[in-house]
Amino acid sequence: MSEIGYVISSSGDDLSFVLNPGENVRRWDYVSVFNNGEIIGRIISIESRSQLVDLNTDYKSMKRYIENNINDSTNICHVQILGHVVNDNVRNSREIINIGTPVYLSNSDTLSRIFSFNDEESLKIGKLMDSNIDVSININGLRRHVAILAQTGAGKSHTAGVIIEELIKKGVSVIVLDPHADYVFMKKTHDDKIYNENVMVFRTPMSTGRYGSEVGIVNTFTIRFQDLNQEDLCGIMDINESWANLTGIVNDIFDNMKGQHDYDDFMETAKSLGENYNKIRNRLRYLEKIKGVFSNKSTGINDYLSPGRLSILDLSGLDEYLADYFAWRILNTVYDAKFSNDFKYPVFVVVEEAHRFVPPRERGRTKTGEIIKKIAAEGRKFGIFLIVITQRPGKIDQDVLSQCNSQIILRITNPADQNAVINSSESITEYIIEDLPSLDIGEAVLTGEFVKMPCIVKIRNRETRAGGSDIDIISLLRMARDEIDSMNDPRKIKERNKKLLGDL
Ligand SMILES: Nc1ncnc2c1ncn2[C@@H]1O[C@H](COP(=O)(O)OP(=O)(O)OP(=O)(O)O)[C@@H](O)[C@H]1O
Ligand SMILES: [Mg+2]
Repeated sequence: MSEIGYVISSSGDDLSFVLNPGENVRRWDYVSVFNNGEIIGRIISIESRSQLVDLNTDYKSMKRYIENNINDSTNICHVQILGHVVNDNVRNSREIINIGTPVYLSNSDTLSRIFSFNDEESLKIGKLMDSNIDVSININGLRRHVAILAQTGAGKSHTAGVIIEELIKKGVSVIVLDPHADYVFMKKTHDDKIYNENVMVFRTPMSTGRYGSEVGIVNTFTIRFQDLNQEDLCGIMDINESWANLTGIVNDIFDNMKGQHDYDDFMETAKSLGENYNKIRNRLRYLEKIKGVFSNKSTGINDYLSPGRLSILDLSGLDEYLADYFAWRILNTVYDAKFSNDFKYPVFVVVEEAHRFVPPRERGRTKTGEIIKKIAAEGRKFGIFLIVITQRPGKIDQDVLSQCNSQIILRITNPADQNAVINSSESITEYIIEDLPSLDIGEAVLTGEFVKMPCIVKIRNRETRAGGSDIDIISLLRMARDEIDSMNDPRKIKERNKKLLGDL
């Protein structure tokens, strides 16, 4: 370990040291001092100071300073103290650090041990930034839920995909609510080989995500009409609980069904209601629109819960209330299965675009939001855990966000979103927020229960195929230009005319 400077000031959580001019450090480097064992900290900022030059120095004086090779600058590094290293863990430190204490760059073996866990507990998600040190997160630390927060395009879905890959390797059952069909390719690797047979895509007849057999077998998410009660039907038809006359009519239809109690029976009975039929006609169109979802079997927990199974619910293109209804239906059955211990293994629920499913109270309630809040508050008692993903940290129910005890935060430049992030958890400091705008795609701050101390990590590559990446404008425009050229090609023009006019 080489000494890189000496402490010149220290107070509880911070210290500053003057840097040996022969040494080079960067923001976010880890440094150590020794007092009753190793105390580790992270360089938050580096300041250059001079006795002769300051903000009032004019151009001429500065030029003389340079021409005379005067260099009296001193680098002062400000460090956030993270804690005492005890048995490869980081504990709160209460030691005084004296002025003059030597400072060292932390040893990479020590860092490797701090950022790893034993194999059964660790999910390997990337490398410590600017280094070759592996960073894992602790699966036990996920018991109190995780939030993945970042602006659009920063790498949220990529990161969630990496965590899902690691979770299913460990035998976890994972459910993904996927409003943009971003995860449907996860059965395959980049080179189109099968990654994991246990990846299932459930698609409703109304889903609009564009993919075919390349994702493997696609299962249709179905509901047996007879499994629906009046409340469910009102949910599907977007009939609010407080609209007593419409809910009354739905009850009437239910009471009067005499046939198979299926979709056709429901519609026929509705038609026989005369005046009331006209009142509810508009709403019945909702049912008609989705009638493809009704079948003689409801997709149930045996389809989507199984050890190591990844079940992706493609909700792309669905009206908001329908996406809400289907998502609620799945989460509700999962919650019940966990609550009653019918399925005894851990389940993770990944909620993409979580602001849509769990908006803040003042923006209205959703059925899925209610169940997600329940999972956030009590899920860990029954072994059901959340991975909440959003680019709008201010537009999601704040209770759910604050129940997430671990955070993965990627690039965020918008101050309002940064503020929402800082308010969402005690473990997020101003220091972390200051770093968010300078992160590149795929670089993330990890903080909270699933790591022993905060770090910036470059998330590893995906083993599975990702969907939903940005369209490649350049190559599409190249194709567009080729098309223009071929339209203007005299031979092609002649051919087209021939087709249109025949041989005149
Ligand atoms: N760690 C990474 N390594 C390599 N590529 C990455 C990484 N993270 C993200 N990318 C790439 O960056 C692009 C955007 O990533 P991603 O779709 O995950 O962003 P997002 O935050 O989910 O965006 P959106 O808000 O639009 O859903 C994708 O093409 C993805 O493959
Ligand atoms: Mg995404």
